[in-house]
Amino acid sequence: MTETTLFSPLQMGAVKLQHRVVLAPLTRMRSEQPGNVPGALMAEYYRQRASAGGLLISEATQVMPTGQGYPHTPGIHSDAQQEGWRKAAAAVHSKAGLLYIQLWHVGRISHSSHQPDGGLPQAPSAIAASGTALTADWKSVPFEVPRALELSELPGIVAAFRAGAHRAIAAGCDGVEVHGANGYLLEQFLQSRSNQRTDQYGGSIENRARLLLEVVDAVVAEIGAERAGIRLSPWGVANGSGEDDPAPLYSYVITELAKRKLAFIHVIEGRASGIGRGELGRTDGPSALSLARPLWPGVLIAASGYERDTAMADVAEGRVDGVAFGRHFIANPDLPSRLKLNAPLNPYDRSTFYGGTAKGYTDYPALETV
Ligand SMILES: Cc1cc2nc3c(=O)[nH]c(=O)nc-3n(C[C@H](O)[C@H](O)[C@H](O)COP(=O)(O)O)c2cc1C
Repeated sequence: MTETTLFSPLQMGAVKLQHRVVLAPLTRMRSEQPGNVPGALMAEYYRQRASAGGLLISEATQVMPTGQGYPHTPGIHSDAQQEGWRKAAAAVHSKAGLLYIQLWHVGRISHSSHQPDGGLPQAPSAIAASGTALTADWKSVPFEVPRALELSELPGIVAAFRAGAHRAIAAGCDGVEVHGANGYLLEQFLQSRSNQRTDQYGGSIENRARLLLEVVDAVVAEIGAERAGIRLSPWGVANGSGEDDPAPLYSYVITELAKRKLAFIHVIEGRASGIGRGELGRTDGPSALSLARPLWPGVLIAASGYERDTAMADVAEGRVDGVAFGRHFIANPDLPSRLKLNAPLNPYDRSTFYGGTAKGYTDYPALETV
């Protein structure tokens, strides 16, 4: 039997990957205005990062206007946005790549300036996140105390994720990743520090996991489990999140997800903050992979702080099936071939991560032009 490597093919639900180097979801805040529409520049960015049989997971994409938390992030709730994603998918397909849309609701990680009615951001409970929000005019201000969602509002959120999945496929994308990580709405429901509800969506682990599982079930009913994955960050601390004892909570969630036979689970390892703010976060934390592997029989993808050698080792030793790269993929549009060739990597420029134009976005050189 030949050894499995980072460059071996992998059947992942409905699609066959030709290698295991994955583009991690990366918010870049460059959609076209008004309307948060993916434009030609975004299509070019994804085209550059596409490779034959290579999986690209899109930047987080709000499924409804109230789910937006930063300026200029793209949505997938209007016809114009769907049309924009069609262009991005076509650009990726022109290089035989695969594009999955990350479906997102930020919950309390928003600001009233992003809310269509100028009202408060919504969350499981009226508990503010620590840290600062980025307003619609790019100012950092302390997070507001969010409004606790009414029970009657939750079906609308589930329906918005379902509609986003529908639009993603209708736009020609290959699948979706439900954003269940990094302190956003679905994780706010999961974790007891942000969820102190006393109804059937709060309290016990089963109750806190209810909304996330309802969203997954709705997405699966719409597009099929073989086109759907989910991202989780059990030991993450991004956006003021953090569960005191993540193991029982995430063991339950992953066991339930296994029953649903999703195409993949994507975990963020505890060693980085999950949003790439620190160059390297904790290295002593427990491993999300070691929690997930025995509970999850399907394709497992991991991210955070990977380099070529650690990615190769984790795949070769069977800890993970695919490795998602964030910052290195920002700076190296041809990352899969660079890793294969063991070629040097371009350094990334943090100052151009969020917002702006082509600079630091589509102007990183590929190998043949270095
Ligand atoms: C600029 C930037 C934007 C990010 N946006 C998202 C996002 O939209 N959704 C998400 O799940 N994670 C997001 N992340 C986290 C990355 O997907 C990834 O987990 C993190 O960067 C760690 O991987 P790395 O060490 O390879 O960069 C972002 C990270 C960075 C640096």
